[in-house]
Amino acid sequence: MSVGTPSDPLKFAYWVPNVSGGLVTSGIEQRTDWNWDYNRETAIAAENNGFEYALSQVRYMASYSAEYQHESTSLSLAIMMATERLKVMAAVHPGMWHPGVFANFGATADHLTNGRFATNVVSGWFKGEFQAFGEPWLEHDERYRRTEEFIRCLKGIWESDDFTFLGDFYRFHDYTLKPKPLNTPERPHPEIFQGGNSTAARQMAGRVSDFYFSNGKDYDGVVEQLADVNASAKENDRSVKFGLNGFMIIRDTEKEAQDVLREIVDKANVEQVEGFRQAVQQAGASASDGKGMWAESSWEDLVQYNDGFKTKLIGTPEQIAERLIEYKKLGVDLSLLCFLHVKEDIEQFGREVLPLVREMEAALPERELAQA
Ligand SMILES: Cc1cc2nc3c(=O)[nH]c(=O)nc-3n(C[C@H](O)[C@H](O)[C@H](O)COP(=O)(O)O)c2cc1C
Repeated sequence: MSVGTPSDPLKFAYWVPNVSGGLVTSGIEQRTDWNWDYNRETAIAAENNGFEYALSQVRYMASYSAEYQHESTSLSLAIMMATERLKVMAAVHPGMWHPGVFANFGATADHLTNGRFATNVVSGWFKGEFQAFGEPWLEHDERYRRTEEFIRCLKGIWESDDFTFLGDFYRFHDYTLKPKPLNTPERPHPEIFQGGNSTAARQMAGRVSDFYFSNGKDYDGVVEQLADVNASAKENDRSVKFGLNGFMIIRDTEKEAQDVLREIVDKANVEQVEGFRQAVQQAGASASDGKGMWAESSWEDLVQYNDGFKTKLIGTPEQIAERLIEYKKLGVDLSLLCFLHVKEDIEQFGREVLPLVREMEAALPERELAQA
């Protein structure tokens, strides 16, 4: 049910370290920095090592091992200006931005980068951030109603003139944006990614998102979500692409890779992980059916704050490449990766894993992929 043809190569994205503390809440050595120089070098390394996308994080204040943070939209634009091909998803919270202002930002960013602007619209879990800003914190499914209106407004403004919208959260009257974002052969407007896995999130994806991002999952978890997202897309006569988060540890032997995972968990910052565990009860667990991100995560899973260990991209280059291909066969279009030492590991991925993935893809019989 993916938009791409089954034989499209698997796409890769990496998490931009625009928040301090690395991608795991652990005292293990992480040669990852959140500063600009490191981010610029990482982005250049990424586009030279098979990454088509980068995903920034939106965080407005210190929290759970992330003391510092660079603002998502400005850093995303800076990364695109420093690279040639990388598409960067600027993360955005509908509760914090007006869709008209964000649509304007996106159009300008798209022109400055020759059509490389994308966005990840998130509905939020961090109540403390909204309280600090004096903004109302909506109940779980209400946050999704607002996010859906936000996305409908972005598309309306990006695709039409005299846009009028009378919603519960946003209103527009005969509004025309000029210039609109670039209309590239690949997409009619900047791609809209979505972070959120609850039932409300899955249904919204089918109605309005271009890409659905899953937190880390084993094969069963991917199959289960794909079924829901694709059913919702079908009802709406659409198709949605699927992205899957995973934490990658590449070593010469499986044992060495597993030892690194053990060390990450053994050195976890217990207090910070516990604080995060409590805060994310505001996400999936608070949905009307209690289903969604982090609702079933173990304490160990939460040491990587997007359940990245569950995807099990941990082992030798061959083992990792094989798993990536299995996910692709299930219907995953994009692999979103996080690492311990982001820049170095991106380079190792490009050298040791990517060529195997491409070889295995080329050897796959068309009919096996067509079932995806
Ligand atoms: C790939 C991905 C990226 C996300 N990035 C952010 C982020 O940058 N900032 C944020 O506050 N939440 C982020 N979230 C979390 C969402 O805001 C939301 O709380 C979470 O997806 C739970 O949604 P659910 O209750 O629908 O499962 C992200 C989620 C995913 C899947």
